[in-house]
Amino acid sequence: MSNVTWHGQRALVTGASSGIGAAIARRLAGSGATLVLTGRDADRLAAVAASCNSADGRVSSLAGDLADPGFREKLAAEARSRMDGIDLLVNNAGISMNARFETLEPEVFRTICEINFFAAVDLTRLMLDDLKKSAGRILVMSSLTGLVGTPTRTAYSASKHALHGFFNALRVELRPFGVGITLVCPGYVQTPIRTRALLGDGAVQGRDQAAGRRMLSADTVAAASLRAAWKRRRLLVLGRETRLARILSLLAPGPLERILDHATR
Ligand SMILES: NC(=O)c1ccc[n+]([C@@H]2O[C@H](COP(=O)([O-])OP(=O)(O)OC[C@H]3O[C@@H](n4cnc5c(N)ncnc54)[C@H](OP(=O)(O)O)[C@@H]3O)[C@@H](O)[C@H]2O)c1
Repeated sequence: MSNVTWHGQRALVTGASSGIGAAIARRLAGSGATLVLTGRDADRLAAVAASCNSADGRVSSLAGDLADPGFREKLAAEARSRMDGIDLLVNNAGISMNARFETLEPEVFRTICEINFFAAVDLTRLMLDDLKKSAGRILVMSSLTGLVGTPTRTAYSASKHALHGFFNALRVELRPFGVGITLVCPGYVQTPIRTRALLGDGAVQGRDQAAGRRMLSADTVAAASLRAAWKRRRLLVLGRETRLARILSLLAPGPLERILDHATR
């Protein structure tokens, strides 16, 4: 369905150089959307833009670090001038972690919140007038950890919970303008995010601790997320285990904590 509906829509996609963001970019481009893509790695970003198979200049990219507030401003200005506004903001860029809180350096905690939360808040602020004008949509890539506190992911979980607090409040403020906000919560997705996750001292983990598990594909998540955003759904919880954990967190938090503790020891 997303192959038809996004025709002519203008979208800014963060975290488009890899994983779920790249899959979202390809789906949007395939449906005729005009795109500005961003990520840190210029070569991988250019490769994703090229794989969008758009020879007519509908897909452009700007590489940079979303931890830098100056880059966020530059990106917003570029998106506005290249597309003359925006209909869809995809706040997808993110980094993960794997460390218990007592070993987590405070700067690493802040870095995770800066990218996963504050960059999304800032970009939303910078594009707000455009989104109000178009009665557009904001798609926010959260996680199961945005609904359920997860051991060894304290900063990641906090940054994702913060997304829910912020965007649920903003959705109400934006009701008069018809802006839709969709929070997506997948469980495990097959992407390099865990290999690139930060350890307590900020070093890159360099391996996928969940390798071998059954996971959703990035494209499955992209397709479902875009469908939900199109329908302006508030929340999409993706994956059987994720939905079960969500229900347990509401109905049986004690047993769920024991399961999570056991699984991360
Ligand atoms: N994979 C999962 O299991 C899973 C589950 C639930 C939620 N999620 C969420 O899904 C989103 C996408 O993750 P993914 O799994 O697709 O991971 P990924 O393949 O590692 O992609 C992450 C993307 O975020 C970008 N990014 C990271 N730090 C950045 C920074 N400082 N500035 C600019 N861009 C930055 C990366 O850019 P570069 O590669 O160019 O650095 C990359 O494009 C994240 O928000 C993640 O929390 C993932």
